[in-house]
Amino acid sequence: MLPITEGDQNLSTGRGQWDASQSTNRTVEQDSRLYYHQILSTPCLDEIVRAEGPYIYTASGRALLDFHGNSVHQLGFAHPRVIHAINSQMRSVPYCTRRYTNHMATELAELLTSHAPGELKNNSRILLTPSGSAAVGIALKIARACTGKYKTIAFHDSFHGATLDSASLSGQELFHRGMGSLMPGVVHTQPPSTRNCTECMNDECIAACATSIENLIDQDDIAAVVAEPIRATTVHRIPTEYWKRVRSACDRNGTMLIFDEIPTGLGRSGKLWATEHTSVTPDLIVIGKGLGGGIFPQAAVIGREEFNDYGPTPVRELALGHYTHEKSPVGSAAAIATIKTVLEENLVTRSSSLGREWLTTYREKLTAMKAVREVRQIGLMLAIELVCPELTDRVMYECLNNGVSFKIGGATSIILFPPLNIDTKILFGATDVICEAIRDQSIQMNVSKAIASSNEP
Ligand SMILES: Cc1ncc(COP(=O)(O)O)c(C=O)c1O
Repeated sequence: MLPITEGDQNLSTGRGQWDASQSTNRTVEQDSRLYYHQILSTPCLDEIVRAEGPYIYTASGRALLDFHGNSVHQLGFAHPRVIHAINSQMRSVPYCTRRYTNHMATELAELLTSHAPGELKNNSRILLTPSGSAAVGIALKIARACTGKYKTIAFHDSFHGATLDSASLSGQELFHRGMGSLMPGVVHTQPPSTRNCTECMNDECIAACATSIENLIDQDDIAAVVAEPIRATTVHRIPTEYWKRVRSACDRNGTMLIFDEIPTGLGRSGKLWATEHTSVTPDLIVIGKGLGGGIFPQAAVIGREEFNDYGPTPVRELALGHYTHEKSPVGSAAAIATIKTVLEENLVTRSSSLGREWLTTYREKLTAMKAVREVRQIGLMLAIELVCPELTDRVMYECLNNGVSFKIGGATSIILFPPLNIDTKILFGATDVICEAIRDQSIQMNVSKAIASSNEP
């Protein structure tokens, strides 16, 4: 098995058994014949025939609670307000030709800049892109042009997108495989999180990680530090003390701090922006995924206002976001409806309070199981880390059989991202299914024996 950490892969034994047990489907066969196969996604499991609220429905007759959803579903699927906004916009201004603007794009810019975190609030400008990776690419270009430097620091094991520039920035080897030379100047450093840190997050080791990134930034040739404020793939929080030291090192060296909130923004973390967990303000943030309401591909860069006229090559002299859909009225309408729904339905508060209740209800039950190594929760993100990848894979396929879909992160963690407006009973019912599957599969694999023998001297 390849050492993959970003998501579950399709080469596992569990996957082979799943495929063997499924009846064939014409769409899945066509997909397999006509699309290039990719290790994290294809060939596909089934055909989706409907997606509504927290559920996806498949051609084989399954209704699955989708806690994966590629993290686009803060509002669940087919939210009526988003659909209405898109439909109305398609009938009036469906497209915006370059050199023109449109009311939806400017309203979205007002909404994003007036709700931006920290010092970016009412002191920022934006650019829109059709994907998160493209937004990361633009943030990198702004940092290079405005600082006059080209090197970038990112974390080992990070993911910032799959295009060549964003994949070069990403620390995961899988996304570099077969690519030859990558974007120059990327330096990867150790993030202070339990998953990567052998000393397990005591104050000393957080300080050591901070010192090591400070030393890199202090070399004074770094354009930007790019990081997720909360690591979505494994649900790891980074201490504020660390971010404060990174922020000051960036300030004294003219280095930009860029936060990638693509999967964790828009209320997912229990705050509107994941940045709010860090107690610092970055120079730029990139957002995407749920911004298009789980329907439209929409992402954005939000950055300090002054970059328009700043540094050796200010943004106004560049052609950064020269995308065909650089000011999509329909994407903007979807984003406005999404943000307004999150704000007006108090989904940020709900994400925080329901997330806490979720953890309180299940932490003891889960950690009492020998197969569970750790449970981590931030807002409506829950990671249940199991003792080995094979068990996690088996649990996922048992849950798929029993109506619950989720992603595996870091090879051993069950990663649950439910919609922020999910009914509590449905959420807890699904979590019971997961607990049951962990118990069943632990017995079938004889996990206690495996743990005991691995602990023998
Ligand atoms: C942290 C992070 N950054 C960037 C991206 C890339 O976004 P997109 O797939 O929209 O290009 C992703 C996508 O999963 C992500 O999780």
